[in-house]
Amino acid sequence: MKKAVVTPYEVKGQVDYGKLIKEFGVSELNNKLLERIKKHTKELHLFLRRKVFFAHRDLNWLLDEYEKGNKFFLYTGRASSTEGVHLGHLMPWILCQWLQEKFNVEMWFQFPDEEKFLYKKNLTLRDTEQGTLKDMLDTIALGFDARKTKFLVDTKHADLMYREACKVAKKITFSTVKASFGFNETTNIGSIFYTSMQAVPAFLPSVLKGKNIPCLIPLGIDQDPHFRVSRDVMPKLGFYKPAILHSVFLPPLTGMGGKMSASKKESAIYTTDSPRQVENKIRKYAFSGGQATLSEHKKKGGNPDIDVSYQYLKMFFEPDDKKLQQIYDTYKSGELSTAEIKEILIEKINKFLKAHQQARKKASKQVDKFIFKN
Ligand code: TYM
Repeated sequence: MKKAVVTPYEVKGQVDYGKLIKEFGVSELNNKLLERIKKHTKELHLFLRRKVFFAHRDLNWLLDEYEKGNKFFLYTGRASSTEGVHLGHLMPWILCQWLQEKFNVEMWFQFPDEEKFLYKKNLTLRDTEQGTLKDMLDTIALGFDARKTKFLVDTKHADLMYREACKVAKKITFSTVKASFGFNETTNIGSIFYTSMQAVPAFLPSVLKGKNIPCLIPLGIDQDPHFRVSRDVMPKLGFYKPAILHSVFLPPLTGMGGKMSASKKESAIYTTDSPRQVENKIRKYAFSGGQATLSEHKKKGGNPDIDVSYQYLKMFFEPDDKKLQQIYDTYKSGELSTAEIKEILIEKINKFLKAHQQARKKASKQVDKFIFKN
């Protein structure tokens, strides 16, 4: 089998998450650590219980500090393009919102509006700036606390960020960046510098408050390379290394390989999709683990492990463990058909999107409250 590729700029092939843990040098999020989190949160979010977030860096250290009374802040981000936010993007943000509520901590959200402008040939800065404004609505709609959440926009907060980014950039060589992101001699120099901008929010609150504050970054594992190259720099600048929580990818509709990606339209469900669009996409594209005909399915049963509808229910949309188990069992035995499991998912996603879209509409009046003001 061909080796999967996982970088911030390309995710390809069947990802073996066990292997990725070794390759990236991260640690498994095991039950002992989950129990430790639960001591503080009383319950575990579905993304933790079902190991959608499956790996970490330095989470034990972060909890040690927290238990000593040294509170952390959360940090994550979104680099906008013209395509908008899909369900996969929401996963780290939903966990952040939950963690913010449970631990009562600050959330710093970076919108690097230069990132995809630099990487993607056909995007203008105006495109990514407009995309950023729209994507802010999706994050606000998830229920972050306006008093404790700060949006940083790279081109708007450059006065605060550039100075710190230079300090990081001075300690990272081109050869390190080349190897980590798959760059070559033709890569533009903005892209080469960018990783130092993504490092900054992990310690900017410490700079601004004049004391060292621990940081926790929930993200999709494709973003880990940015921190793999910049975490080692932070202690050299006098700051803690940030702790990280990594999620697996919500797979594309078309099958279990790779990730749901905004640049492959048939692979993604966007937060702005209408109920009809969701229905059509799932009926048409959601890869099925069922048999070729209904009678064969009734006889032989389906395979939930490769069925995208089942995987979305497990990873995101069916929080009830008993109901999920029943869906698993009846699909496997053939009692539940492919058409039926797709209908269950369509209903769940449309219910989620209806509430999200209502909250998103209201969010436009709140954007200003979230933009960081020094
Ligand atoms: P971006 O805008 O490409 O993606 C935003 C977040 O969504 C995650 N993600 C996914 N997670 C699960 N399943 C998927 N199918 C899926 N697709 C995307 C990404 O891993 C990411 O966490 N450079 C970043 C922006 C950024 C950032 C950060 C991200 C700036 N600072 C700090 C994480 C942490 C980017 O382009 O993300």
